[in-house]
Amino acid sequence: MGLLDGKRGIVFGIANDRSYAWFIAKQLMAQGAECVFTHLPDEKGKMERRCRSAIKDLGIEDPWLMPCNVSSDESLDEVFGKLKEDFGKIDFVIHAVAYADRKYLKMGNFYKTSREAWALALDISAYSLLAMAQRAEAIMPDGGSILAMSYFGGEKVIPGYNVMGVAKAALEHTTRYLAYDLGQQNIRVNTISGGPLRTLAASAVGSIGDMFEHMERKASLRRNITGEEVGNTAVYLISDLSTGVTGENIYVDAGYNIIGL
Ligand SMILES: NC(=O)c1ccc[n+]([C@@H]2O[C@H](COP(=O)([O-])OP(=O)(O)OC[C@H]3O[C@@H](n4cnc5c(N)ncnc54)[C@H](O)[C@@H]3O)[C@@H](O)[C@H]2O)c1
Repeated sequence: MGLLDGKRGIVFGIANDRSYAWFIAKQLMAQGAECVFTHLPDEKGKMERRCRSAIKDLGIEDPWLMPCNVSSDESLDEVFGKLKEDFGKIDFVIHAVAYADRKYLKMGNFYKTSREAWALALDISAYSLLAMAQRAEAIMPDGGSILAMSYFGGEKVIPGYNVMGVAKAALEHTTRYLAYDLGQQNIRVNTISGGPLRTLAASAVGSIGDMFEHMERKASLRRNITGEEVGNTAVYLISDLSTGVTGENIYVDAGYNIIGL
């Protein structure tokens, strides 16, 4: 018996087998969830091949997998339309996507962020959650759980995280407003604030090398976290163990955020 037996949902954000989305899907599936997936479209098909290979490592040979650019309403319409057509309803959505122009993720250059770079980061990394929720609501007639990935740089200044920190602040507050609106339909919306993990997206952040070393010295548990630990908290937030929890941000950061000095 798994905690997620009978639940089906969609996972956005697997780039490879180091992605947070991959670890979340792995732990959800270990508890009986059925996951379907999207990948970022690209002309050469590299993203699809990498995503497919990572999903294969999860034990799925022939996945439900669609291209989706989360900054396109049409692309999201196609994905949620196909979900409705194929399954009628879903129980959960995992939002583990983010993007910012790496040119603006260098230490000390936040003040140089262009209007265009700001809009792009906020659109892909924060508005996309709202865009997904608008479409998911129609296929969650029995309620559901929507989960997005955040980071401490959305609350405090983490040098080099820059415009992505602004996007995470927007993402976390978007979650609260969504939780209020969708609460009437028993749809819960939460974020996990995960510790640093060596992923493609993380490699773009100027100070990422320092972050891992800093965690080992300063986090309450004196170590970094694993993808599985975030995945296990996702299991809790998607499962019926958390039916009274919405609009929350749960830290899976080895107790880093509680430290003042
Ligand atoms: N790695 C970390 O240290 C860390 C810490 C806390 C939170 N997070 C968050 O976790 C989430 C997942 O990132 P990750 O670290 O696993 O990196 P990742 O590179 O593995 O995943 C990021 C994903 O975003 C997707 N993406 C980017 N632009 C997109 C678009 N326009 N349309 C569709 N997909 C798009 C990429 O294809 C990729 O799959 C992000 O929200 C990230 O900010 C990461």
